[in-house]
Amino acid sequence: AIERTLSIIKPDATRRNLTGKINARFEDAGLKIVGQRRIQMTRAMAEAFYDVHRERSFFGSLCDFMTSGPVVVQVLEGEDAVAKNRQVMGATNPANADEGTIRRDFAESIEANSVHGSDSPENAAREIAFFFAEIDLVG
Ligand code: CMP
Repeated sequence: AIERTLSIIKPDATRRNLTGKINARFEDAGLKIVGQRRIQMTRAMAEAFYDVHRERSFFGSLCDFMTSGPVVVQVLEGEDAVAKNRQVMGATNPANADEGTIRRDFAESIEANSVHGSDSPENAAREIAFFFAEIDLVG
């Protein structure tokens, strides 16, 4: 089915001017960027977005990292977009990511792993609504 998923190009990638190269990976995989904004996340935004990880040991460091520079928040649309985006990204830890994936090719570490993508259609809906109004999404 045609789905939408929330993607974030993280500060390690915007700092290295990788936005275009990462977007080309999405587009080459048949994912259409139907909404996109470059923003500076606040601490409150990072903590709210990653609320499910609040009790994890890496939560504070993750929020520091996600507010360390600009991010590009974007909505990707296409056939099985959630799963397809996760394939294009590769595993969370770049050491475990398959060849040819964004994280294998660009990520610096398990934390500075260049991109975020929703892990289910349910979370995608919640994460898209966190950053975008429906009127901002043009398919
Ligand atoms: P993301 O897909 O954005 O979801 C949670 C983020 O936490 C993850 O990518 C990483 O950037 C970060 N993170 C840092 N340490 C870990 C860890 N040990 N396990 C999972 N995620 C981690």
